[in-house]
Amino acid sequence: MTSQRTHYCGELRAEHVGQQVTLCGWVHRKRDLGGFAFLELRDREGVVQVMIDPGANPAAGATAKDVRPEFVVRVTGTVASRGENVNPKLPTGQIEVHAGNLEILSRSKPVPFPIEDQIDALETTRLGYRYLDLRRPALQRIMRLRAQAARVVREELADHGFLEFETPILTRSTPEGARDYLVPSRIAPGSFYALPQSPQLFKQLLMVAGFDRYFQICRCFRDEDLRADRQPEFTQVDLEMSFVAADDVIAVTDRLLARVFHETIGVEVPLPIPRLTYADAIRRYGVDNPDVRYGLELLDVGDVLGKSEARFLREPFEAGGRIAALRLAGASFSRKELDELTEVVKPYGAKGVANAKLAGGAWQGGLAKFLAGDPGAALASRTGAADGDLLLVVADADPDTASTAAGRLRQHLARRLGLVKDGTWGFTWVTEFPMFERDPATKRWAAKHHPFTQPVPEDAALLENDPGKVRAQAYDVVVNGVEVGGGSIRTHQPELQARVFRTLGMDEPEAQRRFGFLLDALAHGAPPHGGLALGFDRLVMFLAGTDSIRDVIAFPKTTRAACLMTGAPADVDDAQLKELGIACKGSAGSAGSAGSAEKA
Ligand code: AMO
Repeated sequence: MTSQRTHYCGELRAEHVGQQVTLCGWVHRKRDLGGFAFLELRDREGVVQVMIDPGANPAAGATAKDVRPEFVVRVTGTVASRGENVNPKLPTGQIEVHAGNLEILSRSKPVPFPIEDQIDALETTRLGYRYLDLRRPALQRIMRLRAQAARVVREELADHGFLEFETPILTRSTPEGARDYLVPSRIAPGSFYALPQSPQLFKQLLMVAGFDRYFQICRCFRDEDLRADRQPEFTQVDLEMSFVAADDVIAVTDRLLARVFHETIGVEVPLPIPRLTYADAIRRYGVDNPDVRYGLELLDVGDVLGKSEARFLREPFEAGGRIAALRLAGASFSRKELDELTEVVKPYGAKGVANAKLAGGAWQGGLAKFLAGDPGAALASRTGAADGDLLLVVADADPDTASTAAGRLRQHLARRLGLVKDGTWGFTWVTEFPMFERDPATKRWAAKHHPFTQPVPEDAALLENDPGKVRAQAYDVVVNGVEVGGGSIRTHQPELQARVFRTLGMDEPEAQRRFGFLLDALAHGAPPHGGLALGFDRLVMFLAGTDSIRDVIAFPKTTRAACLMTGAPADVDDAQLKELGIACKGSAGSAGSAGSAEKA
């Protein structure tokens, strides 16, 4: 009879010396030295050295000859001290296991890349053999961190009375603004389910049903262009609460984030997380997801430079625009480097970056000729510029364009000048988002968050005549300049909801057709409610210190939304299509599988 595993490889320490143990794991490395065979045996807890003495155990010696890296073996033996030969690099380095018995449980073909952290395999190869990639210690650590974070989330929310639910995956389109993934119905040919972009509507219905506090760690599906922090299917920590105001949802989220950071990576998040209104975020940082780990705030200099001789400043300002300056203390840029900054702001619609440097009490640089006398003194006093400081100035007739361009310039400069100190954290809430934004394609108003968000009460009167000014009771939580979560207080009054739909250009029949079930629910005793969703993958990216979302998802997709291991998306049998009443006009072929040349 074979013995059962008694320990994980990685858990053995000096205190186990003398014990008989049985280990199961993968052969990490094998060496023959002085007539002995040494195996490094690896499992999810780490690596331990196993020594086989063919003289004392001929059968184990013979098996050891056969063993290759990544074979799965079972070892029974005695834990012994390594005496002088301690390996300080391994947590198990003080001991080794002297094997009495070695058994091969499973063999392995040669692996396409070594199971080490530092490898130079292409990401496409790694994703094609993700089960091998996941054996690497770094990914083992991240997956455990992810599981630990999920456990802390469940504990914290359960501690505060939240009930865990599962909501449907086969459902109707949800209004989160991305394209839906559709699933054809066999029973009703020509009809489609949509995979949920979020459980938004169901969690609201659970509030109407009286559950009061809901949460779910749920998969969401969005067919959108992918980036380093976006996947077509991703995970949210989704929550909803009844009889609350924005402050309550924010407080619950503050505690949740603080506990997750504390219990997983020992980082203390100072509470409460500071709040900024959207208007202040744009004014001070130019973006709605500011990285608050460094200063370099945007300074308004319109009233100082807006009357200047410089037409490229005066005209935009007189047209109602914004002139924003960034002050870099003691910075030195060459003429060429200053010119290159124009390329940074151009993609955001600004025409250029003007500059002025205070040196020896006088302004130098492109703007100097407009700054003689009072204007120069006013600019120095407004920006707090001291000798040696450089001002970079962005102006545009559209204040949003000026803000965005200056905000992006700020980010560019922070990267270039290394303003972010390693190991620092910047948490902030951004509140009171605009309720609507113009859809550039249709020129119609679109919901900035989603249409069920409630306006700030005093702005509701503007819904019909000045929708652009309506603020929403919506809030995002931003970590190091990345939106990690967002939510809102919802509209629970059917009349107000109907007005919001009208502003969005949705008439009664269309609103009924798309969201009739929700409107009907709101008319059956809906409590005031609100909630939020955290992007769980993004959260784990922070905990793990990685900048690729693919590192924190066990089986991620490429930026072309393909799974290189299974080859999904792939074509299907004609019979399946026929059953669904679907005819394809053309086939792009499958997405490829292991070893295909696709870019991750
Ligand atoms: P929202 O659309 O802001 O809100 O999504 C919440 C959070 O989910 C994360 N996220 C993503 N993560 C990875 N890949 C993606 N493609 C992706 N898209 C979004 C972000 C984001 O902050 N129903 C509302 C929440 C609510 O109002 O309660 C919602 O889904 O971190």
